[in-house]
Amino acid sequence: MSKLITGLDARQIIDSRGNPTIEVDCYVAGQLAGRAAVPSGASTGQHEALEMRDGGTTWMGKGVGKAVSNVVEDIQEALVGMPVDVQSELDEVIIELDGTANKSNLGANAMLGASMACLHAGANTHELPLWRYIGGVAGGCLPVPMLNILNGGAHAATNVDVQEFMVIPHGFDTFGESLRAGVECYHALKGELQRDGLLGGLGDEGGFAPNLPTNEEGLRYMVKAIEGAGYSTEEIGIALDVASTEFYRDGKYHIDGKAISGEELADIYSGWLDDFPILSIEDGFDEDDWTSWANFTKNDGHRVQCVGDDLFVTQAERLVMGIEAKAANAILVKLNQVGTVTETLETMAIADAAGFNSIISHRSGETEDTTIADLAVGTRAGQIKTGAPARSDRTAKYNQLLRIAEDCDEFASPF
Ligand code: PGA
Ligand code: ZN
Repeated sequence: MSKLITGLDARQIIDSRGNPTIEVDCYVAGQLAGRAAVPSGASTGQHEALEMRDGGTTWMGKGVGKAVSNVVEDIQEALVGMPVDVQSELDEVIIELDGTANKSNLGANAMLGASMACLHAGANTHELPLWRYIGGVAGGCLPVPMLNILNGGAHAATNVDVQEFMVIPHGFDTFGESLRAGVECYHALKGELQRDGLLGGLGDEGGFAPNLPTNEEGLRYMVKAIEGAGYSTEEIGIALDVASTEFYRDGKYHIDGKAISGEELADIYSGWLDDFPILSIEDGFDEDDWTSWANFTKNDGHRVQCVGDDLFVTQAERLVMGIEAKAANAILVKLNQVGTVTETLETMAIADAAGFNSIISHRSGETEDTTIADLAVGTRAGQIKTGAPARSDRTAKYNQLLRIAEDCDEFASPF
């Protein structure tokens, strides 16, 4: 017999950037059975589902009181009495209750909080670890981590345009060894920057945030970090999240002090691919610059993972457009870009069927919530990016993966 939802509760908490966000509790048979908190982006795509904020002056206008009320009033009323372990039906009810294309009625933050809290409650009532509940009979597989050790763009107050410089420690036998190699690169990078007098603050995702003469200099530091830690670039590669929508204005990309076309930017990337061990480039082009995306994927997609984040915003409709246009070959997956667990899984299934890789991702504003770690394992996504191996909002996810690795032996890298 399925257990029934008896209540939802919600509250405003604060995230890793000191901004309000929502946390939701799901009650089954009168007991707290699942809890989840919702993250928040800084370099958000304009096609993302709506994050509901209160406006006004308190909390810099970022309060989530309305989203909290929407959970406690409307969503609770709709879900109470339903079995907790029919995730797709629960999400369908929430989606219908909202009734809008961009989740502007209830707010994607309210909807996702409820959706994820129910997911946790479903796993708990079956006495299963979350990753096993998600994975079902297919079990799970530990993902290769992408660790963002050098932060720029909208996540740092520096002159570096590229938002994320990540290491991908793919040439290892276990998740634990892969993580250890990434941690060692983080410390090697710290040493290199310190030596050059460039060690200053940290970015929003826990990576170092130096000012650098050019973006390419960031790539040189990444190679120094990998080799300085005693590894070869055969076993640890580089991933970039350029987040180029942030510097695309009036039809030009504003990078390294120049204003250039999509074609010129693609030429820069091709040169970088020749000279550096780059395995993955995310958001190399603007979220609506489909032509540049398709040209780059055609020319260089055989030698680099081309990842759509702002381009696809985890939404099936945009992903299908991208598959048809051959605009990319991988998708970044962020639950709060679409607003429910079920829609996220549906988008991943479409990606899989098209031969696109999926990378489960955190947001730059995070909490101690670790749902994405279990999601990455249970869906066998193969890759996760969740920041530097530092600061508790980021390490919460890596540490959860270490716990899961005690029960799940499989570890596979797409590289
Ligand atoms: P965001 O950054 O959470 O600020 O959008 C992460 C990303 O762009 O991948
Ligand atoms: Zn991104």
